[in-house]
Amino acid sequence: MKKIVTGTLIAMLAFGLILKPTGNAFAKKDDKILNVAHRGASGYAPENTMAAFEKAVDMKADLFELDVQLSKDGEVVVIHDTSVDRTTNGTGKVKEHTLEELRSLDAGSWFDESFTGERIPTLGEVLDQYRGKIGILIEIKSPSLYPGIEQKVADELKERNMHKPTNNKIIVQSFDHDSVQTFHNILPSVPVGVLVYNPTHLTDISLKEFSRYAEYVNPGKSLVDEEVVDRIHDYDMDIHPWTARDRESVEALKEAGVDGIITDYPDYM
Ligand code: G3P
Ligand code: CA
Repeated sequence: MKKIVTGTLIAMLAFGLILKPTGNAFAKKDDKILNVAHRGASGYAPENTMAAFEKAVDMKADLFELDVQLSKDGEVVVIHDTSVDRTTNGTGKVKEHTLEELRSLDAGSWFDESFTGERIPTLGEVLDQYRGKIGILIEIKSPSLYPGIEQKVADELKERNMHKPTNNKIIVQSFDHDSVQTFHNILPSVPVGVLVYNPTHLTDISLKEFSRYAEYVNPGKSLVDEEVVDRIHDYDMDIHPWTARDRESVEALKEAGVDGIITDYPDYM
């Protein structure tokens, strides 16, 4: 009898049924490393356009990442910089153009002539097109310029019933951690992540604070090693570092044990 009990205990321990170790391996939620196409597959198509999102789907990414801001008339639009100068044929700040003006710009030819005619998408358009096809990691960019943007992003998701867990993940993240908390309070059913570029955001005090509301801590890749990954897992959060632009970085991040990799080249995964 004693032998049977001991044997059962050993088996349960082996399968992690009794103890949840404080260490890394068991805190990680699953083994697949998610392939996250940064601004779409932006190594192959102009960032944050439908062409880049389509390429991410073709390349079998699990999610694509995009950046959102507000037009002058309050529409949620998908663009990275706070000005349109770098990625369109226009000039000036995003927030100083109406949606109609933004939509008239060419957001493709700066990358390659073959993409002439790509437009700045709205978040709604992207959600409609890709709902159920691929996950979407939404970054709220420079929210201090756009009071109320968190509510608007939440409304876009709710209108489409995309605020409930499905097979395709929707995640909202920002470098502005107050904005992340604001969004979380508005729509707690959508998981949120904190973007981190500074090692001071990886102290135990910071990680403990993030773990109150966030499911993801997503640092710049230069901040990531196995120890950082383990510590984030210890606080029961996942880590998706950015931005891998070469195969060596992808391999190093995999070795470190990350849960997902944000990359311009989804095929490197
Ligand atoms: O998703 C993380 C990454 O996009 C953050 O940096 O400048 O590309 O928005 P950035
Ligand atoms: Ca981004």
